[in-house]
Amino acid sequence: MEASMPKRKEPGKSLRIKVISMGNAEVGKSCIIKRYCEKRFVSKYLATIGIDYGVTKVQVRDREIKVNIFDMAGDPFFYEVRNEFYKDTQGVILVYDVGQKDSFDALDTWLAEMKQDLGPHGNMENIVFAVCANKIDCTKHRCVDESEGRLWAESKRFLYFETSAQTGEGINEMFQTFYLSIVDLCENGGKRPNTNSSASFTKEQADTIRRIRSSKDSWDMLGVKPGASRDEVNKAYRKLAVLLHPDKCVAPGSEDAFKAVVNARTALLKNIK
Ligand code: GTP
Ligand code: MG
Repeated sequence: MEASMPKRKEPGKSLRIKVISMGNAEVGKSCIIKRYCEKRFVSKYLATIGIDYGVTKVQVRDREIKVNIFDMAGDPFFYEVRNEFYKDTQGVILVYDVGQKDSFDALDTWLAEMKQDLGPHGNMENIVFAVCANKIDCTKHRCVDESEGRLWAESKRFLYFETSAQTGEGINEMFQTFYLSIVDLCENGGKRPNTNSSASFTKEQADTIRRIRSSKDSWDMLGVKPGASRDEVNKAYRKLAVLLHPDKCVAPGSEDAFKAVVNARTALLKNIK
């Protein structure tokens, strides 16, 4: 729906944009915004009630950007409040907590909620999404690693950042790249530049890496039945090796997946006569 985009402006002129935050409750959406806008961190959890609205001005290249930020509450209770605010958005900060797998798994549900609220004519293609893998300072509790998050984000051609609202790591870089991408989009008539180009890896590669990560044993990893012959193991291995070879595959996590496949094959061949 291109009507929702701000009118094309001449470079150098001021620009007004709308960004929203999305993600489960308590993942750190408000703290990320506070860290950038107020340069501070609050460790006490103060749940956002419905929506928090703020305005800020930023300079991107030679343009002054007026940013309207709508910081959403993640709790399902506020669904009806949130759904009025999805339209006319140019940028989304999509946050999960690297120590809460549920919050990562919920990212697809958040996209679905937004898509549903925008309706059949809504176009999410021309919105800039910045995925924040937040709370990276909590290294002990981390259960979603960088390659898993990056793979999800880059499969969808979203920006991906590792952030900590507590230490400030990654926050400025995230906002600068995010705003720059939105300005590029606005200067491109509301369309994502290079909108036809797809991710630099295929869906098959991404799905295979995910399958390998969640496989329960070496048979499962190679996609063969327990008790398969040497030939079957080698054939399955060659197919995966071609798909994931580090010279050919740039998908996040492909090197680890490739190594895991090599090890699985070695382990199986040791025990097959
Ligand atoms: P809702 O408004 O309920 O949707 O939550 P929210 O996503 O806005 O979370 P909020 O920013 O309020 O942060 C939730 C809790 O996580 C607070 O106790 C924060 O102090 C803490 N927190 C946020 N970011 C970080 C971080 O990067 N590291 C650590 N260690 N804690 C964080
Ligand atoms: Mg909040």
